[in-house]
Amino acid sequence: MSDNLTATDHEASVAEAQRRLNATLPMARLEPVSLPGCSGIRLALINADFPTGPLPGEVMNAVVERPAYWAFCWGSGLGLARFLLGNPHWVTGKSVVDLGSGSGVAGIAAAAAGAATVVACDTDPDARLATRVNAALNGQQLEISTTLPARCDLLLMADILYDRANLPLLSVAQRHADEVLVADSRIRELPDPGYARIATISAATFPNLGEFDEFATVRVFHRPRQTPRSSRPDSSAG
Ligand SMILES: C[S@@+](CC[C@H](N)C(=O)[O-])C[C@H]1O[C@@H](n2cnc3c(N)ncnc32)[C@H](O)[C@@H]1O
Repeated sequence: MSDNLTATDHEASVAEAQRRLNATLPMARLEPVSLPGCSGIRLALINADFPTGPLPGEVMNAVVERPAYWAFCWGSGLGLARFLLGNPHWVTGKSVVDLGSGSGVAGIAAAAAGAATVVACDTDPDARLATRVNAALNGQQLEISTTLPARCDLLLMADILYDRANLPLLSVAQRHADEVLVADSRIRELPDPGYARIATISAATFPNLGEFDEFATVRVFHRPRQTPRSSRPDSSAG
């Protein structure tokens, strides 16, 4: 199902996203901002002047309980967006999935770079709402889903391996996609030899509320299309 929001729907969705952000962070505001180095992409994100000091105990508990990851554009998503916008041949004309979409940054960049279709998947309903809001903000049509489609040309994962329990997604991805691109600032090497590093990009989480500099280097890994068995050279031929 595609998500075409009317102006009224969009305003209501923005207000609902603001309400959900305040359920975790009562003092925070969602503000539409241009992403640095991403030619015109705008996202509604947490206000950049949000205080970086320690949070009151009950707010900290709410953050742990329900982190609003979607209110930030993570360095890996920003780096992957820049990579796709600068190298649109990766997505042009392709069916693309953004797994762990958060704000929707990678999927929106893929759509802007010429993807034929984009499906954004996230387990967090607030992230799915944020992706819908941000797709509309950029005039892009994304399908928003809780589950992966059976098949796509290219699957994107940006900053989803922060939770090591998600490492099995590396092999799940290859069952759903011809090719996979993983962007990550926390993992230097992927524990799957099918993935090769193809780019290293400087990109910090935006807005940056004090993340360590070591997380401002994003590595992009590619798992290429596998050669169909029938077209491989016959290894038994002598
Ligand atoms: C750190 S945020 C990154 C968001 C976005 N890709 C970016 O780079 O800004 C990780 C996102 O992945 C989602 N996520 C975590 N585990 C997931 C899973 N197993 N399947 C789908 N989404 C997942 C979270 O809900 C969150 O929105």
